[in-house]
Amino acid sequence: MSAASAAANLSSSVDPWSRVPSDPRAWRGIDQVPSPALLVVSELLDENIAKMIAIAGGPNRLRPHCKTHKCAAVIARELSAGIDKHKCATIAEAEMLAAAGVRDVFLAYPPVGPNIARTIRLAEVFPETTWRVSADHPQPLEELAAAARAAGRTIGVLVDLDPGMHRTGLPIGERAAELYRRCATLDGVRADGFQLYDGHHRQLDPSERMGAVRQVWDQAASLADRLTAEGYDVPRIVAGGTGSFPCFAAIDDKRLELSPGTVVFHDAGYLSAFPDLPFVPAALLLTRVISFPGEHRVTTDLGHKGVAADPAAGKRVRFPAIPDAREVMHSEEHLVIETSLAETLRPGDPLLAVPTHICPTTALHQEVIVIRDGAVAERWPIDCRARRLTI
Ligand SMILES: Cc1ncc(COP(=O)(O)O)c(C=O)c1O
Repeated sequence: MSAASAAANLSSSVDPWSRVPSDPRAWRGIDQVPSPALLVVSELLDENIAKMIAIAGGPNRLRPHCKTHKCAAVIARELSAGIDKHKCATIAEAEMLAAAGVRDVFLAYPPVGPNIARTIRLAEVFPETTWRVSADHPQPLEELAAAARAAGRTIGVLVDLDPGMHRTGLPIGERAAELYRRCATLDGVRADGFQLYDGHHRQLDPSERMGAVRQVWDQAASLADRLTAEGYDVPRIVAGGTGSFPCFAAIDDKRLELSPGTVVFHDAGYLSAFPDLPFVPAALLLTRVISFPGEHRVTTDLGHKGVAADPAAGKRVRFPAIPDAREVMHSEEHLVIETSLAETLRPGDPLLAVPTHICPTTALHQEVIVIRDGAVAERWPIDCRARRLTI
């Protein structure tokens, strides 16, 4: 089956919210878990990983981003599913990946300042891992090359292309080609391809999204073709996030590596932005009712130290059991909602909430409580929520 038809088969008309757990009391042992807490439903996580592989058309086409979960236990599951290429944004995430046994790490972030020496240190401490970083400017690229040369190492570099998001990268064109050629001639670094991240592709209509993705892909592919014709090796283009994942997956090009991140945990933000995607939120927040400060008002312990203050106030969570919950106040340790169901709740009642944005929410928690077979099963540390592990 082609990746495109696998993706089409996975999209279904079932409302994904109907699959989201709503009652934590259904899980044995939850009454002993202090709140707020981050939970992951093991079966849903495995389902999301399997869907990611099916959409890609196989584990070899994937290079998932670990920023969403920051967790070696999730990496172990991906490795055992055959996903051996991984992507990250911080040196701590890179260290976590290598320590978890990943032999092909792409740090999708340009090392600058002291992070140049830390990148070299990664290569020294984990010599069995192939290291690649992104670059979009000659100055840090040359500093990295000089540091690598001095240490007797070679670091792979993916020139960062800006497909219109305007966060990092060079426009897909001559300046990017120029940096690529420069990289290919510098000792200490190796021109290893391109990266293209398109977080701005948020078209609700999947065919419109596909059209936009196809356009930037064609530009990137012809840039790579041009450099190849000049004699440069362009072995890979690492592309996309969650929204564009099925679109890139439908493109048949052996240089393409697919790099969704959020899909493994998924979240309420992407559920509403991309209803065509088949992923189900696997990570949920456990919170408890603590107070009733007015008519129809309920206060829970899910402050913004438990769920990310991203996006704007009023849109940070969804409570599957309280569909009409309206967030009216959010402080460090309190979330105040208004709901017509306030009178049905009691102090201490446990609730589940789906974060709008899971990636920064994960980083707020030291561990994730794993639910398996309907019970609290184990705890996984969020290994690289810190900015620095040992390097
Ligand atoms: C460079 C890069 N690649 C991949 C991803 C993964 O994207 P998503 O979170 O949409 O899955 C991100 C997310 O921010 C990113 O910054």
